[in-house]
Order: sequence, then C-alpha cells, then structure tokens
Amino acid sequence: MIKDTHVPAEEMQRQYAYAQMLQKQGLGLKYCIVTLGCQMNVRDSETMSGWLSGMGFTQTAAREDADIILYNTCCVRENAENKALGNVIWLKELKKLKPSLVIGICGCMVQQAGVGEELKQRYPFIDLAFGTHNAYRLPEYIYRILVERQRVFEVWNTDGEIPEGMPAKRQSGINAFVNIMYGCNNFCTYCIVPYVRGRERSRAQEDVLDECKELVMGGTKEIMLLGQNVNSYMGGGSAFAELLEQVSRLGIQRLRFMTSHPKDISDELIHCFGRILNLMPQLHLPVQSGSNEVLKRMNRHYTREKYLETVQKLREVCPDIGLTTDIIVGFPGETLSQFEETLSLVEQAQYDAAYTFIYSPRQGTPAASYEDGVTMEEKTRRIEQLIALQQSITSKKLAAQLGKAEKVLIESASTRDEGFVGGKTPRGFMVNLPGGAELIGKTVDVRITGQGKNTLKGEMVNK
Ligand code: 5AD
Ligand code: SF4
Repeated sequence: MIKDTHVPAEEMQRQYAYAQMLQKQGLGLKYCIVTLGCQMNVRDSETMSGWLSGMGFTQTAAREDADIILYNTCCVRENAENKALGNVIWLKELKKLKPSLVIGICGCMVQQAGVGEELKQRYPFIDLAFGTHNAYRLPEYIYRILVERQRVFEVWNTDGEIPEGMPAKRQSGINAFVNIMYGCNNFCTYCIVPYVRGRERSRAQEDVLDECKELVMGGTKEIMLLGQNVNSYMGGGSAFAELLEQVSRLGIQRLRFMTSHPKDISDELIHCFGRILNLMPQLHLPVQSGSNEVLKRMNRHYTREKYLETVQKLREVCPDIGLTTDIIVGFPGETLSQFEETLSLVEQAQYDAAYTFIYSPRQGTPAASYEDGVTMEEKTRRIEQLIALQQSITSKKLAAQLGKAEKVLIESASTRDEGFVGGKTPRGFMVNLPGGAELIGKTVDVRITGQGKNTLKGEMVNK
C-alpha cells in the first residue's frame, strides 16, 4: 500500500521551536556526527547536521573536540554493528575526560527490537538513542538532554509518516542525495532493512521536485535520487520513470539514482537511458547470486536468465552504460556449483564494479534460521575468487577507457596527491587529474591517460 502522509506541520513547528530555544541559549557547542552504512544514512546525517547547526552549534570532524557526538549506525551486516559498538565503547574514555560530553546513537542498529533498551541498561554513559522512525525529533531530544538534563531513549516501532521541511547541511555543494522514498517491502530473506526502515513510503512528487529545484538554484551539479527500491516509487508502474523525467527537466546537469531491484525494472525505465540526456549512463543493479535456486531462497523474484535479459536490454538502449552490482557469497547452503553460477553470471554481465559480501546472519530474518553447512574458510575462499574475477573485469573495463575524451565533473581535491583533483565520468568512473581547487564544481574535458586499480588517470584538454 502506498502511504504519502506527512508528519503534521504543527509537529515540525514544535521541533523548530526546540531548535530555536536552544539557539537562543547561545550554548555555542560543537558536534560531530559519525556516519556508518549507506547513502540513506549519509542523507539522514545531513538532516541531523542541519538541525544541530540551526541550534547554533558548529560541526567538527574531531570527536575529541566535540560536545555532542552522534553515531548514525548501520546493521546490514554484523561487522557494521560491531564497528559501531566498538566505537561507542571507546567514547566512554572520552567522557571520563569531559563529563559534559553528550553521546548519542541512532540509525538502523538502534531501530532493531530491544536494542534501545539494551543500550540504556548496559551503557550508562550513553545519553541518547533514537531509531530511524523518530529521528525528526532530534531538536526535542537535544533540548531534553541539555536543558532538562534527562537521558533520552526513544525508539518507535511504527514506521513513521514522512517528515517534510527539515533543514539539511549537505556534505557537498556539487552532488546531492535526494530521498524519493523510505523503507522496503521486499523482505529478501537475508536482509534486515525492511525491519529497521519499515514499509515503503513515497515522498510526494512535488516535495521531491521542490527539493531538487532548490538544489539546482543553489548550484548543485549532480543529483542522486535515493530509495531502497526506486522502481516501486508510488507503488511501482511508470511513476518512477515519470518522476525521473520531471527531475531531469529542472536544469540539473547530471542525474543518477539508486537502488533498483531487478524484478521491478520496467521497460519504460530502461528506455529513459536512451532518452533523457542528463540521466547518466550508470545503473546499480544488485544481483546477489547467479543461481536460480539461491535467488529463490533469497526471495528475489527473478531468475538469472531474466536478470541477464534486463542487462542485454539496457545495453541495447545504452551501449555505454556502466553497470555495478551487489553480490552475497555463502548464503546458507550455497553449494560449490551454485557459487560457480555466480562466477559465470559475473563473466556474462561484465560489471564495471561489484560490491561483494560474505553472508552475515541477521537476527529476525528468515535466512538466519536456514541450515548452513559451508565453513567460513570456504566462504572466504569463494569471495576471494569472486573478487579476483571482478578485479580482472574492472581492469579490462578501465583499460578500454584509455585514450578516450571524457567530460569529468570535478568533485574534490585529492587527499592523497597534492595538486590533483578527482571527479566522475558520466558512466561513473572516478578520474584523478592534475589541477587545483578552482576546478571543483566544473565539468572539464579530460583525456584518459592511465588506470589505477579501480580508478582512471587523466589530463585536461583545451585548458
Ligand atoms: N549479509 C551480507 N550482505 C548483505 N546485504 C544485505 N543483507 C546482507 C546480509 N545479511 C548486502 C546486499 C545488499 C547490500 C546493501 O548489502 O548485497 O544489496
Ligand atoms: Fe533488503 Fe531486499 Fe529491500 Fe534491498 S530489496 S533493502 S536487499 S529487503
């Protein structure tokens, strides 16, 4: 079912009032937000930064300097959770040195059943925990902590209405993430996301367009539309292709989107790649496995054949499209021959890049109780084999770019090589080239002259 209800305007006003009251107090505190996980979390952290800046606080990247530290966590795999917990435990030492330090933890890990309560009991040095559904109440929570001197632990079970009109302090002025929907209805058997992000809720088209318009007017050059499965925007059908078309007309230079579930990708959307000039030829299409048996047990609702047919259609419409994917190795009971089917799919699909993961059991998901006779040693061997195969394909893809002239949108100065800047080609390859900070935000003509492991090297032409 489609839900497009907003958090009531009065509730949002209440949050702005809390932010204003804090600002008036002139506390002048410093905050640090540590973001783990995916683009959704990056975008959520930008909203939290927006709120905290609106309270008159300044952002710092150094946890040691901060008066408020917020951990925006991920729980998609066990190591993401371990990382968050390890980090938070380290903060206990920092709090001994600065007892007024406010430590908060939020995001997907906290949204899991019972975690908020556990954090409250086990870690008395944590002041604040909230889930993904009630994150828009951050101003109120900060007020309760700083002014009313309470510890706040609030995690809502119901997936919320959509909060509109929140502030944002974006990480970059050049490329921006724009949420078009929240949550997921797919329940892939390995995945925790539907449990922590709730059911699909789409933002109204006009809200998405308003945010995009504002970005374009503010000088943003590239927009990435975000959703767990953008193809089911407003319940599916042609709604996403329509939205894409509308956004593309706002005058944005480059448009991308993620993520697409292969089962829902429509012919209409595929044709957008041949038709919409500022839609960049790049698609992230997570396949997860090349074995029909495994795909079935993952509840993915497509076959390897159907997936490869989609890849072929995309390449017919847009021969230069850069495809990337996600793959899980060692799903419970994955046999050697099923793994080999993944290898052969990777050979056939010829991705520019693949993000590969060893299956990690997530409590509460169906696959966590599936029989699994495969050892971790064997899973590690398999993922190494897969990574080596993909690396050889990536190298070949990069080599095929040598000598080409490309339009590169310069995003940042290189942190590693002084005098170098980096940006992406339309297809999504990262290019490093000699140049200064004055190029940031510009689209320049670049000749591709070399390749690294996962990136390209280039030189500007017609300077
Ligand atoms: N174990 C390993 N990888 C997972 N992913 C999601 N859940 C799990 C899990 N339990 C991977 C999928 C997804 C990506 C974001 O994370 O490949 O596409
Ligand atoms: Fe998880 Fe599947 Fe939803 Fe992606 S589509 S978020 S893998 S349940």
